[in-house]
Amino acid sequence: MVNTKLMFERAYLGKYAIGAFNVSNMEIVQGIAQAALKTNSPIIFQVSPGAIKYAGLKFLVVLVKTAIKESGIEAALHLDHGDSLKLCKECVDAGFTSVMIDGSSLSFEDNVELTKCVVDYASFKGVSVEGELGRLCGAEEHIGGHDSSYTDPVQAKEFIKRTKVNSLAVAIGTSHGINKFGLETEPSLRFDILEEISRLCTGLPIVLHGSSSIMEKEVSEISKYGVNLKKARGIPEHILRKAASSAVCKINIDSDLRLAMTLSIKKFMHENPNNFDPRFYFKAARESVTDLVKQKIVNIFKSENRNNYN
Ligand code: G3H
Ligand code: 13P
Ligand code: ZN
Repeated sequence: MVNTKLMFERAYLGKYAIGAFNVSNMEIVQGIAQAALKTNSPIIFQVSPGAIKYAGLKFLVVLVKTAIKESGIEAALHLDHGDSLKLCKECVDAGFTSVMIDGSSLSFEDNVELTKCVVDYASFKGVSVEGELGRLCGAEEHIGGHDSSYTDPVQAKEFIKRTKVNSLAVAIGTSHGINKFGLETEPSLRFDILEEISRLCTGLPIVLHGSSSIMEKEVSEISKYGVNLKKARGIPEHILRKAASSAVCKINIDSDLRLAMTLSIKKFMHENPNNFDPRFYFKAARESVTDLVKQKIVNIFKSENRNNYN
């Protein structure tokens, strides 16, 4: 298990990105590890405060550590959207190699202050820190075009100078969940802002949250089983590909995993109505995670064969 420093340095220079996938149970962890192993790719397992509440911090640490040890892949265990110094400290002490402190809802000064405290604690222990500046918005806000949500490149430069974070999550038009754009708008990201941030902050690994693609095929397939996600719209793959070849070194995916797993379980149950053994439908779900992660590594992130532990 490594921190993200070298991983990002190589991704930055090599113009590829590392996939950061949210985990909350054993099957997701195993499915991701298998994909990383098969593609010989570095990977980031990340857990949100919600996942910690669901599974327990100790369970998640053991699951991820075991998966990494068994597969021999180069991987980091990262806290996603850490919401307090206390939680960041707990995760550092529990063996995480990277933490995010999300102060994006605070004022600039308060965000700097909180992020600095986390960096002080984590860097002493060799743990990387991701900060966030700018506010990710929902589809409604995209339609309204609230520019104030986007990351200000000049502020970003000051933020990294003052906090010394290892990476920065930025708001350039992505958003969390399955409804990222209104149905009548063409999905797009503010690459002009991204370029300005990377110009002003040379060498800074940039993080994109809210980067699931919510593929039409899956949305249409899951509708056959009664799940109505009609307004669902994600970030098109070609846009993510472009981002992955820039200073973006980490791309966060959660919703696509949820969709793939749920679809595979619904499908399995529909096709095998009398099978009530969880090992069968969780196996199908685990395989769907592996397929999804492999596809993203190979076609979008381009981190295949970048495992540094060869
Ligand atoms: O960015 C947030 C992740 O998708 C985690 O979601 O808070 O429901 O675990 P969650
Ligand atoms: P999605 O909801 O687009 O998968 O984003 C996940 C994320 O940003 C986790 O931090
Ligand atoms: Zn996020």
